[in-house]
Amino acid sequence: MAVEFSKPSRDHFAEILTRYPNKRAAIMPTLWLAQKEFGHLSTDVMTYVARLLELSPAFVASVASFYTMYYKRPMGTHHVQVCTNLSCALVGSGEILSCLEKRLGIRPGETTADGRFSLDEVECLASCGTAPMMQINDDYWEGLTTEKTLEIIERLAAGGPAAGE
Ligand code: FES
Repeated sequence: MAVEFSKPSRDHFAEILTRYPNKRAAIMPTLWLAQKEFGHLSTDVMTYVARLLELSPAFVASVASFYTMYYKRPMGTHHVQVCTNLSCALVGSGEILSCLEKRLGIRPGETTADGRFSLDEVECLASCGTAPMMQINDDYWEGLTTEKTLEIIERLAAGGPAAGE
């Protein structure tokens, strides 16, 4: 089936265009909207965005590939992103990542077979003061230890909220 925005997304796209001086400048919010609608930015989705913005598919792909916030592959329900940049690395992000790899049975860039968890290693998420940290979907988890990390994952694996509320 051809890739096409739903009516709400078409309306949102039209509104996005009013905020930018030209279509090219609207590329990032349009990619974000496409990711929300389609789950990830497949080649077909990037080609669709290119057509909407009157840009080359190669240019759209170059922008999408530069930012880790744009997903180029299908993601699991819980997208776990571990910062391994300097501040986090100095206080143990390597151990956090290792314990996640072991618990989930996947490496960065992979998704569990049941589609529940995707794991990625990312650059600084601007939370250096509370390192080590990870982001799961829209939430930051800071001041991590391996114990705290596994508690969060176990709550999510059991279908509960990560915060244990
Ligand atoms: S280095 Fe990890 S949040 Fe900045």
